[in-house]
Amino acid sequence: MSNDITNFPAKRLNCILNLLHDEMKPLNDNKRDQPIKWSFMHVYSCSQLAKLLALKRGIDPEIAGIAGAIHDLAIIRTGIFENHGPASDPMIREFLENYNSIFGTSHGKLTKEEIEIIAKASIHHTEKTIFSENKFCELIKDVDSLDRFLHGKDTYDHYKKRTKSALEDLNLEYLHNP
Ligand SMILES: [Fe+2]
Repeated sequence: MSNDITNFPAKRLNCILNLLHDEMKPLNDNKRDQPIKWSFMHVYSCSQLAKLLALKRGIDPEIAGIAGAIHDLAIIRTGIFENHGPASDPMIREFLENYNSIFGTSHGKLTKEEIEIIAKASIHHTEKTIFSENKFCELIKDVDSLDRFLHGKDTYDHYKKRTKSALEDLNLEYLHNP
C-alpha cells in the first residue's frame, strides 16, 4: 500500500471501459427497458463512485471500479431489466476472459480470483434487501443506489438505506433546501 497519488492503478479498468464503450456505441433505444444513454452515464459514474467508496472501505479500488462499470452488462447486452443480476453471470466472465486474452499481456491480466469477485458483485447487486459479508457485493449495491440517487431517480426503501450508508461512509451529509 502506498499513498503516492502520482498514478492511480486504472490500466485494466480503463481498457475495460474502452471495450465496453465499443460494445455500447452501436446500440440504440429500440426494445430496451432503459435508454442506452442511461447505461452510458451509469457505467462511468458507478465506476468512479465505486473507486471512491472502495478507497474509503479499504478494498481494491480498481477491482471495485471494474465491477462498478460492468455490473449491468446484462442490461447493456439484452436491453432487459428483469433478472439482470443473475443473468449477467456468464456474460461478465466471458467479457473479462475476453479482456484477458486481448489485453492481458499488454495491460495486465485479471486473476481468476479477481474475475470471481467482479462476477459475484455483479450477479448479486440486484439483491438490495440482502446484507452480506461480501464487501464487493455490498459496495456495488450501495454504489448502484447512490448513483441512481445522484442522477435524480426516485429513491425509496433499501435504495434509500444504501444511499445513506454510502454517503455516510464518504463523510457526506445530504442537506436539501427545497
Ligand atoms: Fe446498476
